[in-house]
Amino acid sequence: MTKPKIIINFKLYENACGQSALNLAEIVEKISMEENFPVAIAVNPVDIQTVSNGVNIPVFSQHFDPVAFGNFTGSVSPYVLKESGVIGSLINHSEKKLDRNDLKESIQLAKKLKFFCAVCLNDPNEVAEYFGYEPDAFVLEPKELIGGDISVSKAKFNVIKEFNDMMNGKDFYVGAGIKNQEDVQISLSLGAYGVLVSSGVVNAEDPYSVLLDLVSAFKK
Ligand code: G3P
Repeated sequence: MTKPKIIINFKLYENACGQSALNLAEIVEKISMEENFPVAIAVNPVDIQTVSNGVNIPVFSQHFDPVAFGNFTGSVSPYVLKESGVIGSLINHSEKKLDRNDLKESIQLAKKLKFFCAVCLNDPNEVAEYFGYEPDAFVLEPKELIGGDISVSKAKFNVIKEFNDMMNGKDFYVGAGIKNQEDVQISLSLGAYGVLVSSGVVNAEDPYSVLLDLVSAFKK
């Protein structure tokens, strides 16, 4: 897999569930192909198999639990996800926080399975505790900006810089409130490898145009 530069979190937005999940995934795939640009999507567990069968872009889970097969009612197992063609996941998203031990165990399990694991954190202060576990990527997402119109790149300039310093050269993503080319450009100029986006694309009237605009920021 080419590491995605944009990850689109479908969350449980109505525009990105059921048949709409597949429709949106096809739009993302079209842009990814036309622009020859790596974009991944993080899909809810109910739709993940259908979407993964339907498109040829990396499909991520929005969460997984540190479990294999067995008596784990209601859990999302990375073993099962892998069998469904899912190649990685977000973890510890603000809307699906894990306790510290579960998060560490999850990162270790993902490494063992070679399952791409992007660990979401709200604050640079959280990095030190997990850095040594070497997940594939970290994502900085200040909770209060998620779903809003002010982007992390505009509101948290210094926080991104601090996060970048803590990364010690490791690739990282930023997310929250990212809506346009300028938001992406600022993020990249502050050292981010890529962005995690949700409402800006998923709830846009024209997701194709918005995503194209975001992609163009990487080509400047
Ligand atoms: O996972 C992406 C995220 O939480 C940011 O959401 O809607 O601010 O792009 P949004």
